[in-house]
Amino acid sequence: MSGSGPVDPTTTGAWAQLARIADGYDLDLRRQLRDDPAWVPHQTLRAGELFVDLSKNLFDDGVDATLLRLADEVGVAARRDAMFAGEHINVTEDRAVLHTALRLPAEASLEVDGQQVVADVHEVLRRVYAFAERVRSGDWTGVTGERIETVVNIGIGGSDLGPVMAYEALEPYRHDGLTCRFISNIDPTDAAQKLAGLNPETTLFIVSSKTFGTLETLTNARLCKAWLLEHLPAGSDPAAAVAQHFVAVSTALDKVAEFGIDTDNAFGFWDWVGGRYSLDSAIGLSLVIAIGPAHFAELLAGFHAMDEHFRTAPAASNVPLKMGLLNVWYTNFLGAHTHAVLPYSQLLHRFPAYLQQLTMESNGKSVRWDGSPVGYDTGEIFWGEPGTNGQHAFYQLIHQGTRLVPADFIAFARPAYPLVDEHDGERVDVHELLLANFFAQTQALAFGKTPDELRAEGVAEELVPARTFPGNRPTTSIMAPALTPSVLGQLVALYEHITFVQGAVWGIDSFDQWGVELGKQLAQQLRPAVGGDAAVAAQKDPSTQSLIGYYQENRA
Ligand code: F6P
Repeated sequence: MSGSGPVDPTTTGAWAQLARIADGYDLDLRRQLRDDPAWVPHQTLRAGELFVDLSKNLFDDGVDATLLRLADEVGVAARRDAMFAGEHINVTEDRAVLHTALRLPAEASLEVDGQQVVADVHEVLRRVYAFAERVRSGDWTGVTGERIETVVNIGIGGSDLGPVMAYEALEPYRHDGLTCRFISNIDPTDAAQKLAGLNPETTLFIVSSKTFGTLETLTNARLCKAWLLEHLPAGSDPAAAVAQHFVAVSTALDKVAEFGIDTDNAFGFWDWVGGRYSLDSAIGLSLVIAIGPAHFAELLAGFHAMDEHFRTAPAASNVPLKMGLLNVWYTNFLGAHTHAVLPYSQLLHRFPAYLQQLTMESNGKSVRWDGSPVGYDTGEIFWGEPGTNGQHAFYQLIHQGTRLVPADFIAFARPAYPLVDEHDGERVDVHELLLANFFAQTQALAFGKTPDELRAEGVAEELVPARTFPGNRPTTSIMAPALTPSVLGQLVALYEHITFVQGAVWGIDSFDQWGVELGKQLAQQLRPAVGGDAAVAAQKDPSTQSLIGYYQENRA
């Protein structure tokens, strides 16, 4: 990939054509769906077990074809193939980008930079699965011989968000006798609250950090170590206690050893796995312990199914490609800044937070991968909450506000908990109430309610403006039979590849994250000032000095 630089997408014919179309674009979704009977079938795609309805997006055949042409003109397919082949497409860190290799089946083969990637991946998986089985079966015990009941994952960013999200999403698949807790924040409240009530004899800590140099994680790991040694029964040997109660996941096994964790109890991964793409590496250890190796293997198979779809499906029916291109259309041509993800599944309540790191750490960039500045918007602000909670909070703005907010709606045909509400002689399947809301929202957003419809209902004339729904608010509906481990893998991989497509069109490096570094450095520099070093504080700007001064006055 090093030979040729990124294409500036604004220099392509397709970009110019899209700009012309977007000027005064007034597609009417009511008309689009009514007048073109082929539209819904044509824009309803399948990827693995996902059923994806793009038909309520603000586009038409012309936009669709031009977006696909844009992908051709900037070389999305070539960049995708380079990623799958292990080329160093993470240019600023000179690394391959191979999270897709984490889910290749054992019989596949891939050699990258002299490394037999698939064999290495499956060797680590074998160790992760064996360790998880020992914990689940009670064969692995704490130092006093008690079986493990609580697993505490200590990690942040990609070493936290994926495991938490999947642990919550796959709650029905969890082992009965085991629970997980997750400590991430440097706010000491997090460790204090998560350790509260735990029995040290039955607690296992997993220190998860790709670099093993992250301030939050190492601080929390030390807090947990101190807590363990303080609360174990008197006479417990500290070294044996740490060996039985601490394991690690990292690419930096030397630093794991320095921390005092036996590297026999450490699980590695590689620099070609980005933190936000690491759920399906050994970073998923807490999840493997919770749901078991068989279910984790199903999750990986789901990821792989979506990888294969992205790699091989024709462009016109390639779901990640088309969803990524639509996001470019909204961002660069229709003026959208944010993107809502609205799972109609309480189990996916951490999915939007997970996607925030995936999408915004990947695509929040202002220069292309050769360092040249972009002359167009990149990234989208991803946000969301599960339906129907969001309906009673922020949907007002999506329905009637002045901003364009493309939204992805996600729902499952089969509920995890099929509850029935029996009242007044009626039996109501509550999942059907949820799905009725799911279907209603995208309908309301697309088709709205006109002043004439309101008048026909007898709405008083002075209330007609406030009660009018303009419609033409774009949504994508994603459905699947049920939220299984495999379907979760398919969903996550779908968004990984959507993110990839957008980054490829924008010509940026979606796999570095230099933007998080400056704040980390400044925090280190400021620490003495916060602790009372007046000389260090005096070197800071007046606003920072004033804030530190307020802190010091009020801390006491
Ligand atoms: O600060 C951002 C970041 O580097 C993320 O990219 C990463 O997921 C997170 O910190 C945690 O990093 P590590 O796993 O190395 O502790």
